[in-house]
Amino acid sequence: MVKDAYQGFAERYDLFHGKFGEHKPVYRVFFQKVFVENKIHSVLDCACGTGHDMHLFYSLGCEVIGSDISASMLTRARKNLKSLGVNIPLHKVDYRALHKNFKRKFDAVTCLSSSILHMPDKKEVIRAFLSMQRVLRENGILIITQGTTDKQWKVKPRFILNSSMKEFTRLFAIDYLERGARYNILDIRHDKQKPELKVWSVDYAQILLKDDYSKLLQLAGYRKIRFYGSYKFEPYNKKESDLLICVARK
Ligand SMILES: C[S@@+](CC[C@H](N)C(=O)[O-])C[C@H]1O[C@@H](n2cnc3c(N)ncnc32)[C@H](O)[C@@H]1O
Repeated sequence: MVKDAYQGFAERYDLFHGKFGEHKPVYRVFFQKVFVENKIHSVLDCACGTGHDMHLFYSLGCEVIGSDISASMLTRARKNLKSLGVNIPLHKVDYRALHKNFKRKFDAVTCLSSSILHMPDKKEVIRAFLSMQRVLRENGILIITQGTTDKQWKVKPRFILNSSMKEFTRLFAIDYLERGARYNILDIRHDKQKPELKVWSVDYAQILLKDDYSKLLQLAGYRKIRFYGSYKFEPYNKKESDLLICVARK
């Protein structure tokens, strides 16, 4: 059995997002516009994690299905959705095998927040992109997002402050490797008498950047590949962007 990489972190994962069911207006508007422009009514969130984006898509009126390889993340997603009385079908599926598990097509497939970086090499990334493509309808779209950008890869900052609140801090201490990176996620709770530190690490065997996505998505048969550097639709800029968003059409 393959080890659940998110076991032990799923419970704390939600601290990336804030309160379940609340979405930043700029983030909400981004997806709303993309969905309206592309006539998106059904979405498969194929690395759905704890379910925040599924809730957003559902609240935008879409039919939503979620899948993920991690049982612990799916358990958390189920709990989160139930807390708001939202019923979304969830499946434990590797995103390289979507076509074997879903016999229907979707208007959009989403693979958000660096989820594709879990692939060990480019061959496996192409396998995943092909599988995502096979469950998309003609002209359907694949949406990918990640925080690691060309700028970050060039500058290689050791520390990135992810969250800074009165009682909680989340800090990334990043080890850059030749092709990949290890994100050590340091969570500090300072609301108690004695501060509490918890560390969890995620390994990305290879970091994919804009040119990699262009090449690999084309190889997998996608076209009209668009890149944005922010949820305000600013064009992606290799020197400046702190976010990489990719929208590719089947
Ligand atoms: C950084 S989390 C992102 C979760 C969610 N998309 C979000 O934005 O909060 C990465 C997710 O990718 C999932 N994942 C990793 N490899 C996968 C695979 N081969 N198939 C499906 N999901 C995978 C993990 O289990 C995890 O839930």
